[in-house]
Amino acid sequence: MLSLSDIEAARDRIDAFVRHTPLEYSYTFSEWTDANVHLKLENFQRTGAFKIRGAMNRIETLTDEQRSAGVVTASAGNHAQGVALAATRAGVDSKIVMPEHAPISKVKATRRYGGEVVLFGADYDEAQAKAHEIEAEEGRTYVHAFDDEYVMAGQGTIGLEILEDCPDVETVIVPIGGGGLISGIATAIKAIEPEVRVIGVQAEGASSVAESLRKGEIHQIEAVDTVADGIATRSIGQKPFEIIRERVDEVVTVSDAEIALALTVLLEREKALVEGAGAVALAALLSGAIDYEPDETIVPALCGGNIDLNVLTTVLVRGLVQLGRYLKIRTVLKDRPGALQGLIDIIAEQQANIYAIHHDRTSKRIGVSDTEVEIELETRGDEHVAELVATLEAEGYIVDILE
Ligand SMILES: Cc1ncc(COP(=O)(O)O)c(C=O)c1O
Repeated sequence: MLSLSDIEAARDRIDAFVRHTPLEYSYTFSEWTDANVHLKLENFQRTGAFKIRGAMNRIETLTDEQRSAGVVTASAGNHAQGVALAATRAGVDSKIVMPEHAPISKVKATRRYGGEVVLFGADYDEAQAKAHEIEAEEGRTYVHAFDDEYVMAGQGTIGLEILEDCPDVETVIVPIGGGGLISGIATAIKAIEPEVRVIGVQAEGASSVAESLRKGEIHQIEAVDTVADGIATRSIGQKPFEIIRERVDEVVTVSDAEIALALTVLLEREKALVEGAGAVALAALLSGAIDYEPDETIVPALCGGNIDLNVLTTVLVRGLVQLGRYLKIRTVLKDRPGALQGLIDIIAEQQANIYAIHHDRTSKRIGVSDTEVEIELETRGDEHVAELVATLEAEGYIVDILE
């Protein structure tokens, strides 16, 4: 099983190229949670995610024969970039299979780092099957995204950095996709500081670990559905499963709404841009999924920052809705001159800003002399929303808040 010495050896191999990423105390999240929260900012890693650590450790240990035959892998995007860059840097040819709907920014970056991208399959698991075909046909070495000791050892170097930069750490929170990251981190941490808790987090729409632990064998879910594409796997790997069973204290899940909220507040309060998978550790802390003592020193690992800007826009709107900063309402007016003006006047008096408005006389939900209005508004928080809705209702409007 993976050991501390594997991780220390990995650090010697990758140290000159991989960044020792910052660990920043967060005043905001410490205040919100009554804990001492330090963020491990792996979103500032080269390639925008931690995956370069494991990929480089694997590629640096290839034999000359393996180097000349090239490598192949499957990845939803971050491992793809890590393998492409590490391979190109070592003069090794890389072929990377990515799911057809992989984020555009990740596909483009993988090509830019010198990887040959093959788009195949609906999700990671289908892409992986294709990559194994290529492995057999072309004699390339398969660089597994998580079920590989060298890869896990590379990711484990994050654990060494956390212990060095935050010696008082009591709890580390780590996202789980295939389980390579948490296996590496937990191995490093439990070997050096066994009392430190290591907690794993999965997205609700891609959560197989709790059931696997219950059954004592790997459980595969039928399909994945989460905004956190980096951890959208149907199951974890065999090697990670053994390690998680032994070295991880607890595994929790978070919803996409909780992920969107964490991503939004990270951007606003910490100026840190993360992707969905990069937000799950903080989401677990903020949503109350984890128990802790007051003033406990907690490190959520923000593992990646590669998010398509169009996805970011959608996620931010969801986050703002939860913060009461963006509101969509529907109401019904009499279809006569000035009715809409009356509604708008109240909204203006309440200092809410209209972002979009849709006025519909044809809706089947209303009478023929009525008109339905949907309005999107910028608001200033939950209290402002409550005041605005109460004022409208006091004026006789029936207000539906749309999610
Ligand atoms: C940003 C990010 N966080 C976390 C993970 C989870 O890593 P693992 O698959 O090793 O569990 C991934 C995996 O791709 C990722 O891209």
